[in-house]
Amino acid sequence: MPVFFLLLMISCNRLHEDKRIKIGFSQGMTTDDWRKQMNKFMLIEASLHPEVDLTILDANDNVNNQIDDIEKLIRAKADVIIVSPIQSEPLVAVAKESMKAGIPILVVDRKIAGENYTAYLGADNIEVGRNAAKYIVSKGGHDFTRIVEIKGLAGSSPAFERSFGFNQIISQHDNFNVVATIDGSWEGESIKESFRKVLETHPKIDYVFVHNDRMALSTWEIAKEKGLENHIKIIGVDGLNTPNGGIQLVEENVLEATIYYPTGGNEAIRLALEINKNNSVPKNNILNTIVIDRINAEIMKNQLDKIDQQQERIDQQLNTIFLQDQKYYSQNNLLKILILTLILILILTFYSIYTTFSIRKKKRQLEIKNKKITVQRNQLEKTANEIREVNQARLNFFTGISHEFKTPLTLIISSVESLNDNLLNKSSIVNKEFNLIHNNSKRLLRLINQLLDYRKIEDRKFTIRVSKTNIYNFSKHIFDEFEREAKKRNINFTISTANEEIEVYLDRNLMDKVYFNLLSNAFKFTPDNGEISIKIREDDQNDLIKIYFKDSGIGIPAKEMKNVFEAFYQGSNNYRNSSGIGLYLSKSFVDLHKGKIEVSSKNGTEFVISLPKGKGYLSEKEIIIEQSPEWVNDIGHLDFEVISTIQNKNKDEEKYSILFIEDNLELLEFLSDKFRDQYNVFTSDGKEAIKSVLEIVPDIIVCDLNLPEKDGFEICEILKRDLRTSHIPTIILTALDNQESHIKALQSGADLYLTKPFNLRMLTQSINSLLYNREKLRYYYTNNIHKIEEGGFGISEQEFLKKLNNSIIDSFNDSSLSVEELADRLHMSRVQLYRKIKAILGISVSDHINNIRLEKAKEMLKSTDLNISEIAYAVGFSSPNYFSTAFKSKYGATPKEFKTS
Ligand code: FRU
Repeated sequence: MPVFFLLLMISCNRLHEDKRIKIGFSQGMTTDDWRKQMNKFMLIEASLHPEVDLTILDANDNVNNQIDDIEKLIRAKADVIIVSPIQSEPLVAVAKESMKAGIPILVVDRKIAGENYTAYLGADNIEVGRNAAKYIVSKGGHDFTRIVEIKGLAGSSPAFERSFGFNQIISQHDNFNVVATIDGSWEGESIKESFRKVLETHPKIDYVFVHNDRMALSTWEIAKEKGLENHIKIIGVDGLNTPNGGIQLVEENVLEATIYYPTGGNEAIRLALEINKNNSVPKNNILNTIVIDRINAEIMKNQLDKIDQQQERIDQQLNTIFLQDQKYYSQNNLLKILILTLILILILTFYSIYTTFSIRKKKRQLEIKNKKITVQRNQLEKTANEIREVNQARLNFFTGISHEFKTPLTLIISSVESLNDNLLNKSSIVNKEFNLIHNNSKRLLRLINQLLDYRKIEDRKFTIRVSKTNIYNFSKHIFDEFEREAKKRNINFTISTANEEIEVYLDRNLMDKVYFNLLSNAFKFTPDNGEISIKIREDDQNDLIKIYFKDSGIGIPAKEMKNVFEAFYQGSNNYRNSSGIGLYLSKSFVDLHKGKIEVSSKNGTEFVISLPKGKGYLSEKEIIIEQSPEWVNDIGHLDFEVISTIQNKNKDEEKYSILFIEDNLELLEFLSDKFRDQYNVFTSDGKEAIKSVLEIVPDIIVCDLNLPEKDGFEICEILKRDLRTSHIPTIILTALDNQESHIKALQSGADLYLTKPFNLRMLTQSINSLLYNREKLRYYYTNNIHKIEEGGFGISEQEFLKKLNNSIIDSFNDSSLSVEELADRLHMSRVQLYRKIKAILGISVSDHINNIRLEKAKEMLKSTDLNISEIAYAVGFSSPNYFSTAFKSKYGATPKEFKTS
C-alpha cells in the first residue's frame, strides 16, 4: 500500500513540475479606470500562460509604498518585475537594486529616470502632446487663439513629455498661444480651483489641452459652471471605452477630442515573458496612439467594444479551460489511481495464485508426511499394544498363579492345623517337621499375599474399610502371637500403653499386615536375648496416636534410612532372604490411613506409626460397622483351633443342611470333612449347581465365584430370584479380593463375602451367625404372624409369605385344603414348599395353616358374638372339637375360656 501512495504522489507532483514564472507587478495606484483596465489586461494575458504566477502590489499613489513593494518583489525572487512608476526620480535606486540582483525591470506608462531598467513599454507621450497640438492647429483659429494647458503630476514623465510635445507644435504657430498652464495631479479635483481662477483672468479661452480625460471632465464642469462650455473646446488624453471614459465624453460633446493612450497591460506580460526567456527585446517599446474626435469616436468605440468582447470571451474560454484542466487533472489522477490499483490487484492476484499453489504443494507434502507419521504411529501403537498385552498377560498370569497358589496353600495350612490336634506332642521329630511345614506354608502364603497387595497398591485399587478399634486390644492380640517366639529366643518382648481404652479407626486387615511385618522384621534382626517393645502413646497436641516398635537388632545404616520404604529395597546388612516389599506395603497401608510411618536407628531400629485420631479424614463409605471382635482377621497367624459356637445337633434330621459349591475338589473334600460333624453336608462341583439347590433346598450355601458353568454371581442371583430358594442364606467364598467383585456379589443377593485364604474359624462363625439370625427371625415371625413387613425378611420372602397367607385365608371355607394344593398355587413342589416354610418359619406347612386359622379365630373370639362352632367352621376347621384342642395347645386355654377371660 505505501508503494501505491508513493506512485500517486509522484504523478501529482508531475502536474506542477513545469518551471513557474514569477512576474511581480508594482502598480502605482488603482483608483481610476485606466489603471484598473491595465491590471485587468495583465491578468487576462497572464492566464493565457499557465506557467505564469502574476503578483500585483498596489502602492496607493504613495512613492515610498512603491519602493517597499519593489523591494518585496526582489526578496521574493521574482523572475521579472514590472513597474508602473508614480514618479520618475524616487524609483531610480530601487530599480538599480533589482537589476543588480539579476531581476529584470520592465517599466510601463510613466518612466524611471536614468537607464537602470531592462525595457520600457508605453505610448510616446511627446507624440501624444504633439497630436493634441496638431489637432487644435488643424481646426484653425483666429488671430489670437487662447489655449490653456492643464498638466499631469509634476515629476511624472507623461506630464513632462505631453507638455513638451504639445508646446513644441504650438510654438510653431504664432496665433496659437498658451495663455495659462495649470499643474494637476492627474485627478479631476486637483485642477478645478486653478482653472476657475484662470477663467477669471482669461474668460475667452478657446482650447484647453488637459493631460487626461478625468481632469478634462472637471475642466468642462468648471467651464459649464461659468457658462462657457460651448465656447471652450477641451482635448483630453486616455480615450477609455468605459462609462464616463474619454470616448463617451467625446460622443457627449463634453470633449472636443481625446488622444487614445493604451494601457499596454497585455503587451507588458508578453514582453516580460520575452525578457524572462532572455530574448533580446528593444529598450523602448512604443504603443500606438490616435486622436479620437466626433468623427471616429463611434468606430473606435465599436473597435474597442469588440476587443473587450474578445477579451471577455478569452476570459470565459480560459475559465472553461481552467475547469477542463481541473477535470482533466482529477480524471488523470483517477486514471492513474485506477491503473495503479489494477497493477496492485494483478500483483496480488499473481501473489495469491502463487501462494495457493505453494500452499497446496506444502499441504500435499504435509499430508504425505502426516500419512507417514500416522503409519509410524499406528505401528508404534500396535507395538505398544502388543507389548502392553504381553505385559498384561504376564501380569495376569502372575496374579492368576498367585491366586492359584492360595487355595493349595490354604489347604496345606488347614490340613496342617487340623493334623496338629492329632499329632501334637506325639513325637518331637513329628512336631518339628510339623512346625516346619506349617511355618513355611504360612510364610509362602504371606509372600503371595504381599505380591498381590503390591499389585493392588500399584494399580491403586486399594480402598480401606475401617472400623472403630481398641488399639491396645488389637496390638495385644498380635503381640500374643509373637510371645511364644520371644520366649523361645529369650527376647524381652513387652507391650505398654498409658491408656488401654484408646480407640482409633483402622482397617484391621491392613494394619494387621503392618504390625506383622514390623514385628517379623524386629524378630528377624534382633539376636537372642535381645529386646523388642511395642508402646502406644497419645499425642494430644497433634491429635495423633503413636505406636512405637523398638528392637535392639542390627539397625539400619544411616545413609540407607531414606530408602527403607522403597519397593524392593534390601538393606546392605540384611543377609536374610526378603521380598523387599514388606516395608513398602506397610508405608502404603499407613498412608491409606492418612498416617505416617518413620524410622530411626540407634542401638537397634525404631519404627513409629502415627495415626490420626477420630474419623474426620475418612469418607462415609470407608467406614464399616464391624461386628466381629478386633482380633479376627482373615489371615490368622497361629490359630489352630476350630471353635463351634453352634449347638451340636447329632441326629441328622436335627442338623442344618449346608451346600458347598466349589470346583476345587480337594477344598470341597476338606470343607466336607471340617463341617460333617455339625452339618448335613452336601457338595456340588459347580456343574448343575442350581439343580442341586432345588433338590436339596439346604439351610445355607457356601459358593465359590469362579465355577465351570455359571459363575457364583449368576448362581446367587438365580437362587435369590426363585421363591423356592430365595430364603437360603448364601456366603460367597472366593480368591477374588477386590471391591468390584465384593459389590457385585452383594448386588446378586449374597449375604456375606469372604476371601480366600480363609480362616476356618471365621467361616464357621459366619455360617453360625447367619443361621442364628435366621433362627431369631423364625422365632419372631411365628410369634408375630401378621407382622411380615416389620420382620427382617427380604422383600421376596415378605411377598412369598403374603401370597401364602392370603391363599390360606381365601380357603377358610375349605377345611380339606391340602399342602399339595397350596404348593401348586405357589408353583412349587410339596417338598420345596415344606422346606421353605420350615426354613423361614421352622414349622410344617400344615402347622402354619393351623396357625393362621387359629390366629383369625382368636381375633374373631375377641371381636364377634359368634359361637365357638361357628368360628371353628368359619376359619376352616372340620370339627369344633379339633379346633378347641388345637387352640388350647397353642394358646394354653380353650376357646371358651379365652372368650370369657
Ligand atoms: C492614470 C493616468 C492617466 C494618464 C496616465 C499618465 O493614472 O493619470 O489618465 O494618461 O496616468 O501616467
